[in-house]
Amino acid sequence: MPKPSLLIVDDEPNILSTLRRALELEGYAVEVAGSGRIALEKLKAGSFDGVLLDVAMADMNGLATLRALREISPELPVIMMSGNATLATAVEATKLGACDFLEKPITTDKVLITVHNALKLARLVEESEAQKAKERADLKQWMIGSGPHMKRVIETIRKAAPTVARVLVTGERGTGKELVARALHEHSRRKDGPFVKLNCAAIPSELIESELFGHEKGSFTGATQLRRGKFEQAHGGTLFLDEIGDMTPSAQAKVLRVLQENEIERVGGSETITVDVRVVAATNKALEVECEKGRFRADLYDRLNVVPIEVPPLRERREDVPQLVEHFLVEACAQNGMRKASVQQPALSLLMQHDWPGNVRELKNTIERMVIFAAGASLTVEDVQAALPGVKAVRGAYKRGAALKDLVASAEREIVLAALDANQHHIANTARELGLERSHLYKKMRALGINPRGDAAAEPEPGPEPGDDATEE
Ligand SMILES: Nc1ncnc2c1ncn2[C@@H]1O[C@H](COP(=O)(O)OP(=O)(O)OP(=O)(O)O)[C@@H](O)[C@H]1O
Ligand SMILES: [Mg+2]
Repeated sequence: MPKPSLLIVDDEPNILSTLRRALELEGYAVEVAGSGRIALEKLKAGSFDGVLLDVAMADMNGLATLRALREISPELPVIMMSGNATLATAVEATKLGACDFLEKPITTDKVLITVHNALKLARLVEESEAQKAKERADLKQWMIGSGPHMKRVIETIRKAAPTVARVLVTGERGTGKELVARALHEHSRRKDGPFVKLNCAAIPSELIESELFGHEKGSFTGATQLRRGKFEQAHGGTLFLDEIGDMTPSAQAKVLRVLQENEIERVGGSETITVDVRVVAATNKALEVECEKGRFRADLYDRLNVVPIEVPPLRERREDVPQLVEHFLVEACAQNGMRKASVQQPALSLLMQHDWPGNVRELKNTIERMVIFAAGASLTVEDVQAALPGVKAVRGAYKRGAALKDLVASAEREIVLAALDANQHHIANTARELGLERSHLYKKMRALGINPRGDAAAEPEPGPEPGDDATEE
């Protein structure tokens, strides 16, 4: 392996020679520059693995040099050196992608460690990017989850991808519909062609036609230039029509025509253009119901729904949660430049119990929040609760050394209080919701030390009912 090469930039010759000696002894190939200008020339001429850059230089200061350096090599690891850097300087340097700061006076130990870490981090980033490129090829790396539901989805993608069959992807929000669409494209023969996405819900109905089919210059006010629509852009590739259930009836009719004839006309144009596009559509609406209600054309539905792929909500495939957690942990830690965190078993159980109304996206965001805010690298039940307020924390109720009856009582108290709050402290309603007699609820509240309040005071407490053990209190 060639020696890693460094460029040291400082206008003090002493510092240059000391650092050079220390780093060369450690096996680095070192070049030095006595000014920002010389440094930039050297950077243009040769390639380096890292740069040590002084902030306060007489001629062209460190920040100015860094700014110019970024034009030459945007990714090069740069360590700033400074005697008394202000916070503003540090912030500015970080914005320009400086990866670390060395305070002067600089000891040999410190410089060796800092350089070592900076180069290692850069290498890791490079490797993870190469790894990602490799993973794109493998479907299992695309769609995480090995439970029976996900297996079925992956199997369908594998079979449908190489064909030109249209695919309709359905599922709740955040379940991974777009990911399915991209996986279909990446594993098709069209993968070197374009993948073009159109969010049908985000476009005003009067613009959707021009979005889909393009327009000729001057075809309407504001059409100052010829514009190719999404169908034309996707020629030779895949067109992903997202939120297809929100398309207007007139757009539905036009899309239907393209699907029948593989031809489009730009708005305001008379020329017919033949397009070769594979359409993948997605929606979180139940399109059959939309058809029955007359809001979606049944003939269009039939044409889109050649291969249906239903992505189940996460709460119906909890077995995939641990793998997804691991996947997003690796991703979030790498993105934030942190050492990989792990999740303690009780915390993982809690994540598996949650119903995830926002599905995989919600899980992904939760993990990101946990990684950023957690106290340690081993994520706990408390970290989950902080990142996911309102999570059902039955597991979290366990405390070492506490008796079951006390734990249950405290959980019961929480539940009753929550139910009272939800019912504005109306005892009869709360009791009904909890499936209790009113008298029972009163008794329970007394036992748990909860005082009735608010409109509850207006409700007379019932006398003992038959079967009630009135002597209990
Ligand atoms: N099986 C999976 N493996 C890995 N990542 C996933 C998986 N499913 C979803 N994701 C990730 O979760 C996020 C949400 O997925 P995506 O955008 O595909 O969902 P969607 O169904 O299109 O959501 P919406 O209906 O809100 O548009 C994305 O970051 C995606 O990469
Ligand atoms: Mg989506």
